[in-house]
Amino acid sequence: MVVVAAIMRRPSFVGREAERALLSDALTDAVAGRGRFIMVTGARGIGKTSLTDAVVKVAEDRGVALAIGRAWPGAGAPPWWIWTEVFEALGESLALPRTLASDEARFACLEEIAQRVRARGAKAPILLVLDDLQDVDTSSLLALTLVARTIARLGVLVVATLPDPDPSPPESAVLIAALRREATSIRLEGLGLA
Ligand SMILES: Nc1ncnc2c1ncn2[C@@H]1O[C@H](COP(=O)(O)OP(=O)(O)O)[C@@H](O)[C@H]1O
Ligand SMILES: [Mg+2]
Repeated sequence: MVVVAAIMRRPSFVGREAERALLSDALTDAVAGRGRFIMVTGARGIGKTSLTDAVVKVAEDRGVALAIGRAWPGAGAPPWWIWTEVFEALGESLALPRTLASDEARFACLEEIAQRVRARGAKAPILLVLDDLQDVDTSSLLALTLVARTIARLGVLVVATLPDPDPSPPESAVLIAALRREATSIRLEGLGLA
């Protein structure tokens, strides 16, 4: 019974060989100091989060440090929430202001996040998973853009997920569209299982 319960909790992952190979190669790149940013898109329930779980497993097997941030789907999460989760998973605390008096103050926060990610990637390779970008606040999306633009020579792989079509509010959708231009995209289709 214990075995059955374990199997039911973690149903085995099937297929997606090409996508897993792409992510595995991206992790190899990051370990070699070539940072990558990958966005996994596709319909709700198609398997985006499951694919990120698969790359997390590869990272664990290779001894690569990792952190997972999952966006909060409801109202009420403070700004920077997903980055707070990421740094908590890395054993660091992130204390940024919740309200910002100016664009310069916001940029200083973005740079603090990006600088900390770069510092980690300069020490040892890391995998960061950011799940469900549609629920991420705009400041955190901007921070991700700065991260994506500044990790090319560091040991950082960032994998983010986003439903397709993108259900984000307009102020986020415009930032996500810009973010997609920084990313290697993986678009998931159905598994085609009978
Ligand atoms: N490659 C796969 N092999 C087996 N089950 C999968 C696979 N991809 C997704 N699933 C299952 O389908 C369901 C939805 O997947 P999920 O990754 O949560 O989708 P999404 O994040 O795209 O909404 C989950 O129950 C998951 O276990
Ligand atoms: Mg998901």
